[in-house]
Amino acid sequence: MDFFEVVKNRRSVRQYKPDPVSREDILRVLDAANWAPSAMNWQPWRFLVVSGERQKALGESYRAVVENYTRNWDEAAERKAAISRDAFIRYAANFGNAPVLLVLTVPASAEPNIAKANLESASAAMENLVLAATALGLGTCWMTGPLNDEGGLRRVLEIPDDQALVAVTPLGYPAALPRPLPRVDPDLTAKVQWLD
Ligand SMILES: Cc1cc2nc3c(=O)[nH]c(=O)nc-3n(C[C@H](O)[C@H](O)[C@H](O)COP(=O)(O)O)c2cc1C
Repeated sequence: MDFFEVVKNRRSVRQYKPDPVSREDILRVLDAANWAPSAMNWQPWRFLVVSGERQKALGESYRAVVENYTRNWDEAAERKAAISRDAFIRYAANFGNAPVLLVLTVPASAEPNIAKANLESASAAMENLVLAATALGLGTCWMTGPLNDEGGLRRVLEIPDDQALVAVTPLGYPAALPRPLPRVDPDLTAKVQWLD
């Protein structure tokens, strides 16, 4: 796949095959993330590779948070979120049965400019990560929802307070690929301003 195909073929995958991902492929994906640009070349990202009992414990913890968050959902709320309450809870509990989860963190900073720079750098790493995974035939789903279970993430993964949480993604072979979602402004007439 050439680069532009990779960009257009990436989907947020929420159902995975149980097949394991090799350590070599995990490292290839993380190496691509590690080559992202970063503010001041700080390369502030850290990656946690999570599976087994810790992944299960994370799912149990996040499921409780989603159950509570969605406890008053009616049909209108499900439509607005484009997911049923049951499916949301199931996905929170098992991350689509992905064999592994990746968690990105950066050094925490009380200085808003530094915190913002670190978040932007980590986002660049995250985008490299999801595209590299796509190029290898792997699926990901960039997720910040689990950050609503910050306590659970910190407890289960022993993340210290001097690290800020950025994102979580399952990683695995897709069992189902979602349809591409239409672009809001496919011709880039509204979103682009050309200035001479
Ligand atoms: C910053 C960010 C946070 C996201 N958080 C979640 C999440 O918590 N749960 C989830 O299922 N998808 C999450 N997504 C995935 C989006 O829902 C998805 O990118 C969007 O619906 C477009 O679908 P596509 O990625 O397949 O093109 C997130 C994406 C981004 C960039």
